[in-house]
Amino acid sequence: MEIIVSVDENNGIGKNGELLAHLSPDLKRLKAMTVGNIIVVGRKTYLSFPRRPLPDRENLVLTSHPEQFAEEGDAVKCFSSLNELIAYTQKSEKPVFVLGGAEIYRQLLPYCDKAHITRILSAFDADAFFPDLDNDPEWKKISEGEVITSERYPFRYDEYVRVK
Ligand SMILES: NC(=O)c1ccc[n+]([C@@H]2O[C@H](COP(=O)([O-])OP(=O)(O)OC[C@H]3O[C@@H](n4cnc5c(N)ncnc54)[C@H](OP(=O)(O)O)[C@@H]3O)[C@@H](O)[C@H]2O)c1
Repeated sequence: MEIIVSVDENNGIGKNGELLAHLSPDLKRLKAMTVGNIIVVGRKTYLSFPRRPLPDRENLVLTSHPEQFAEEGDAVKCFSSLNELIAYTQKSEKPVFVLGGAEIYRQLLPYCDKAHITRILSAFDADAFFPDLDNDPEWKKISEGEVITSERYPFRYDEYVRVK
């Protein structure tokens, strides 16, 4: 299981249910990495998508109220417990990408062995945060990308792997 997340300088990831910044190259990269695969999100993040489900991907949603997605039929699979979700992903051959939000990153971090972190080199007012992997002995940064300055905020792509 791998994480994809964009964080600001303070590991902020969102505010009022929205992303902190929309970086078009980053969203395209996320699409390229996840199409054909499984994505896992919490109910709040799922509902924040402008288009649901994310097309051409198996959308798995964690929620204690799966009935609210009944209308979406087979397009989305809901799980009301972490164990059920983990069991499902372990049976699948497809790569699994955890796309947030904060609650889901925190709970699934122990099951992940790689994190693709888009680091936005700005500080925002945030109310949702990602764990600080730089100060987590179980994780190691293995690459730090060049700073990209074509967007409103400079950012780069960093990669972390689980070492313990
Ligand atoms: N920067 C990024 O890369 C990024 C990525 C994704 C999201 N975000 C941001 O993160 C924020 C949302 O994060 P969040 O933590 O508030 O919400 P979230 O993680 O998206 O969703 C939380 C919801 O997931 C369900 N849930 C969580 N754990 C569960 C469990 N063990 N079993 C069953 N259901 C479970 C619950 O839904 P029910 O209430 O229905 O039970 C809970 O209310 C937004 O601001 C969003 O924009 C940022």
